[in-house]
Amino acid sequence: MKKCLSLLLCAAFCLSAAAEVNYQVIPLPQQISLDKSGQFFTLSEGMKVGYPADNAQMKRNAEFAAEYFGLTTTTEKKSADITLAIGLKSSNPDDYAISVGKKGITIQGASESGVFYGIQTLRKSIMNETGEIRLPYAWVCGSPRFGYRGTMLDCARHFFPVPFIKKFIDILALHGINRFHWHLTEDQGWRFEVKALPELAQKASMRPRTVIGKNLYVNDPAVALYDDTPETGYYTQEELREVVRYAAERYITIVPEIDLPGHMIAALSVYPELGCTGGPYKVWEKWGISDDVLCAGNPKTLEFLKTVYGELCDIFPSTLIHIGGDESPRTRWKTCPKCQAKMKELGLTKEAELQTYINKEMEAFLAQRGRKIIGWDETLEGGLSENAAVMSWRGYNGGKAAAKLHHQVVMTPTDNCYIDYYQLKNHDKQPLAIGGYLPLSKVYAMEPVPADLTPEEGKYIIGAQCNLWTEYVVSPDHAEFMLLPRLAAMSEVQWMQPDAKNYEQFLTRLEPLLKAYRKLGYKYCPTYE
Ligand code: ACM
Ligand code: ZN
Repeated sequence: MKKCLSLLLCAAFCLSAAAEVNYQVIPLPQQISLDKSGQFFTLSEGMKVGYPADNAQMKRNAEFAAEYFGLTTTTEKKSADITLAIGLKSSNPDDYAISVGKKGITIQGASESGVFYGIQTLRKSIMNETGEIRLPYAWVCGSPRFGYRGTMLDCARHFFPVPFIKKFIDILALHGINRFHWHLTEDQGWRFEVKALPELAQKASMRPRTVIGKNLYVNDPAVALYDDTPETGYYTQEELREVVRYAAERYITIVPEIDLPGHMIAALSVYPELGCTGGPYKVWEKWGISDDVLCAGNPKTLEFLKTVYGELCDIFPSTLIHIGGDESPRTRWKTCPKCQAKMKELGLTKEAELQTYINKEMEAFLAQRGRKIIGWDETLEGGLSENAAVMSWRGYNGGKAAAKLHHQVVMTPTDNCYIDYYQLKNHDKQPLAIGGYLPLSKVYAMEPVPADLTPEEGKYIIGAQCNLWTEYVVSPDHAEFMLLPRLAAMSEVQWMQPDAKNYEQFLTRLEPLLKAYRKLGYKYCPTYE
């Protein structure tokens, strides 16, 4: 009996003691070629990650690798067991190749970002293993399909503090996502500190209470139910600079959004003269679309916007700056003397063109700073400004129209990308959501480049993105539950060629990733459809 027990223990020990990795992670590398020799490189304590001494980004890459693998770093080539290098011949800076052989592991990138993605692939390959980790001799390489691989987080409907924002960035990095579209302002709260306009942070960030549940369009205060919980918070410029730095270390560019001319009630609550009626306005306590937007005929509106965006550019180095543009009714503009006078002055015939007028002004202002605008697909309605990129959310048609006009497009249609929607059919198993139904399989099935575009037009689709709006997402844990594992599916949309994608196969690779989420303390939706 004793012998039997020790045999069993030995078997269990041996199983856990020699883990063999297979490099089959999410997103799946483009190529995994195992060496015919069947030999292994064994990762062991005391090994070193080598990097070129003259490159600060590579030093940081080496520190990440050392942290993930429990090793130390060195700039001495000879003593490195894992060597990080740039110089992989490829026009895509994010490409990487990992070679595992007799001499150890080399992770080569077409640039520093490529090295980072190679490290992430290796990290995910070994993450769940304990004991001796054996890496079969192999050649593994990755190459993302799209340059823009985004996720949007709305921090205005609910405020998410900086430690969570950093965790969110870590989650993006784990999935090879390289754009964090940060939605910073809304009717229900302004979250971006503007030094020249201090009331925005001090007052417009305060929502005294919030409508409860699905009283979405209830306007009668006697009927609507509200909580008694103030929702407050904004990011100081110092915090924002720190988040930008944190994201850049992980090769993530933050695309900040100040939504204009709609979704501006919070700003109007402190600067009512910028609205067509003059107010008064108060930070919205309910969800929906407001008729009150910025007055397009008041010269102070552009002054205000240039002050805000000027400070935004000082903090965020992104070339793309998001100007919003969605859900902005033109009702007030139709009857506002200032807006009508502006239309007459400019010879405009439709109110939608007033929105284009503002966009053109902002485009010129931002171009002076070397930036380019991107806006939601409503920006097409009055005619796109010259260099504007488009984020297509009301289906694929806006994106298609923009691509045909040779404007860059990020595809983020509600049907495949709105991860504020329910992810399971059975609503009892999930927290209250805005509605809809977006299961994991439907995110995975997304094809960002519509088949009826010509190959030339298709090149204007620069990427895809998931959006997490937070009307009903009330906490960091809740946000993680909505993000995961749907971000895993999005990462394969962003990285893989369509003919290489396979949902059944993806699901087999998802299980180890879920285990990694648990290890990292990430909440996720444990069932998926
Ligand atoms: C949006 O979902 N209003 C862009
Ligand atoms: Zn007006």
